[in-house]
Amino acid sequence: MSRLVIVSNRIADLHSTTQSGGLAVALADAMRKRGGMWMGWSGKTVRALPDDASPHVEDIGKVRVLALPLPEQEFDDYYSGYANSVLWPLFHYRLDLIHYNPAFPEAYHAINRRFARALAPHLREDDLVWVQDYHLIPVGHYLRQLGCRQRLGFFLHIPFPPADLLEASPEHAELVETLLAYDVAGFQTRADVNNMHDYLHHRMGLVPDANGFVESAGRRTFIGNFPIGIDVDAFRKLAADTPGDVAFDQIRHQVLNRKQIIGIDRLDYSKGLPQRVQAIDRLLQQHPEMEGRFSLLQISPPTRCGVKAYDQIRTELERLTGAVNGRWSDFNWTPIRYIHRTVPRDRLASMIRVSDVGFVTPLRDGMNLVAKEFVAAQDPDDPGVLVLSRFAGAAEDLTAAVIVNPYDLDDMARKLHDALVMPLDERRERHEALIEAVRETDIASWFDAFLARLEAPSAHSQTEA
Ligand code: G6P
Repeated sequence: MSRLVIVSNRIADLHSTTQSGGLAVALADAMRKRGGMWMGWSGKTVRALPDDASPHVEDIGKVRVLALPLPEQEFDDYYSGYANSVLWPLFHYRLDLIHYNPAFPEAYHAINRRFARALAPHLREDDLVWVQDYHLIPVGHYLRQLGCRQRLGFFLHIPFPPADLLEASPEHAELVETLLAYDVAGFQTRADVNNMHDYLHHRMGLVPDANGFVESAGRRTFIGNFPIGIDVDAFRKLAADTPGDVAFDQIRHQVLNRKQIIGIDRLDYSKGLPQRVQAIDRLLQQHPEMEGRFSLLQISPPTRCGVKAYDQIRTELERLTGAVNGRWSDFNWTPIRYIHRTVPRDRLASMIRVSDVGFVTPLRDGMNLVAKEFVAAQDPDDPGVLVLSRFAGAAEDLTAAVIVNPYDLDDMARKLHDALVMPLDERRERHEALIEAVRETDIASWFDAFLARLEAPSAHSQTEA
């Protein structure tokens, strides 16, 4: 079996098994089992660093970890700059939130080159290298420049936008070209793959063959969707154990005949949080009899602080939440409980399990694993209802959810009401279909399907050219 080498911006803490979600954690479990090498940013920045700085090497269990420190200013222009002020908004269809500075793409490429230079000397001939996410798109290209002939794969965890939007970036052509340095370029959904195909076809004259390969500069790249998922049984287990105070809160809700709606998202503008709060307001306007009958528990830990659009969304959400609570609260009820702190994963899981409705309303999302976690955590005999934005990647497969348009507040309010009063039969029927879909595209199937594709001979038949 070839050694697997993962490259990502963040490395999960391989010593801990209780960290909160995200891609690093999902990969950590798989890597602990399989073993291999993992390279990423060490989490530290230093004032200055030579271009050919080496990573810190540590063996943790079966995994060799290469942790690369990065220079302060360059890191800032790469992470807060190009990755999160250009690529993140661009790939989430938010051209209005792009903040561009020519220093950003320069630092982005400099860091990607650093990753490639630091990694190359550690690679064995038959390694499988798997690069993760939008921070590191050009790593494969730079590895090729250094003469690496290993099989290289890339997976994008966030959406891939339509060509018309992508073209707003001055670097659109080179971003797509660097994707073609890989043997496999993986996306979350069929819609993302269609967007990529559309760009390749209409902007570069490249048409994929019947097996999903495009050929460019003597290399064949497989382009396909690999929907990411969760470890269903591990999450169910985590959720089954209800701490005393969560159980007490659940009993209080039952005694008061009050339902709990739950929302869990990093405080990101892609998550549709203001729309979610406004939908609660609209629901109460449409159904005054629902006053006191439910509350929304919204848990939104801070993220990417210091990036302007994130500071703005926080202010907006706090203003709206305060306004809606001020309008509807009574001395013994507030419609929205808002937590802006990080909550440990096991507590989150138990809070999800005791909730009646999972309210997941992104304006655009690569997949959205919270939607899958909600389904996994429910009691199949008395399951809660998933209300899911049609713009989450998860909506492509979770068609048995109550699907909403987060831009249409009336639609959200109406369907949220349906979810709150849904009879047990319908809840069970939907949940049965949902859990089947969540199991079908779980974390193991994602991992295995991608690796199988990366290992498949056809994926690298011409890479040695
Ligand atoms: C998304 C991205 C991940 C990223 C995570 C947390 O899920 O796809 O690559 O790690 O957000 O964001 P952060 O900026 O804290 O790494």
